[in-house]
Amino acid sequence: MGRLCFSFMIGSNLVFLLFTHSFAVDNISPSRSIRHGTTLVSRGGSFELGFFSPGSSKNRYLGIWYKNIPVRTVVWVANRCNPINDSSGILMINSTGHLVLLGQNKSVVWWISSAKHAPSATVELLDSGNLVLRDAGTYLWQSFDYPSDTFLPGMKMGWDLRTGIQRSLSAWKNSEDPCPEDFTYGIEMELDTYPEAYVLKGTAKYYRTGHGMA
Ligand SMILES: *[C@@H]1O[C@H](CO)[C@@H](O)[C@H](O)[C@H]1NC(C)=O
Ligand SMILES: *[C@@H]1O[C@H](CO)[C@@H](O)[C@H](O)[C@H]1NC(C)=O
Ligand SMILES: *[C@@H]1O[C@H](CO)[C@@H](O)[C@H](O)[C@H]1NC(C)=O
Repeated sequence: MGRLCFSFMIGSNLVFLLFTHSFAVDNISPSRSIRHGTTLVSRGGSFELGFFSPGSSKNRYLGIWYKNIPVRTVVWVANRCNPINDSSGILMINSTGHLVLLGQNKSVVWWISSAKHAPSATVELLDSGNLVLRDAGTYLWQSFDYPSDTFLPGMKMGWDLRTGIQRSLSAWKNSEDPCPEDFTYGIEMELDTYPEAYVLKGTAKYYRTGHGMA
């Protein structure tokens, strides 16, 4: 129904603007940013990205959560240990093609350093919950390579031999602080052994599969 009204009213610029606001946006580009109070919704409507405050905390974080679960369930957090303390947060692509999260006084609280100069990069929230930065079809970065505490279908764990990225899960410090403290979960691949799952408490190996408790 919304689409029908839309096509009737497309002649008026004012109405066009009002309508584009009420349609879900699944990507950001150099000319479109996400501010406090606005969100990205994946095309199929499964996931949403925006700013949130966990529990009774006043701190603001940029995160991804399930769109259709009434109790907000956050699956990924960008600025885990570097919260924003007011509503100044903006996620944008700056003029050199870097995805940056700006906080108080336009300070950079989180960013993606992709080596390539990518002035035409766009960011898209996929329906798998993966936030991807891409330029002309090439993925420059994806949140699935940097999981928080949640493993989603389609993620891989452990070393990526091609990119050298090691992916692991780490628990929030507590329900109001997504900064990791103690536990990390990952998969270790040594060339001469089988892959091995582990849990780290701090840097001490706490549990590994196959070898029982360490
Ligand atoms: C937020 O943090 C900035 C510096 O990081 C500080 O100057 C400011 O007073 C803080 N604002 C609030 C409301 O706590
Ligand atoms: C874009 O952000 C990156 C990462 O913070 C920074 O190194 C770069 O200088 C920024 N570019 C501009 C034009 O501010
Ligand atoms: C905000 O940024 C301006 C310009 O960089 C600086 O002069 C000012 O001291 C900053 N304010 C705070 C509270 O950090």
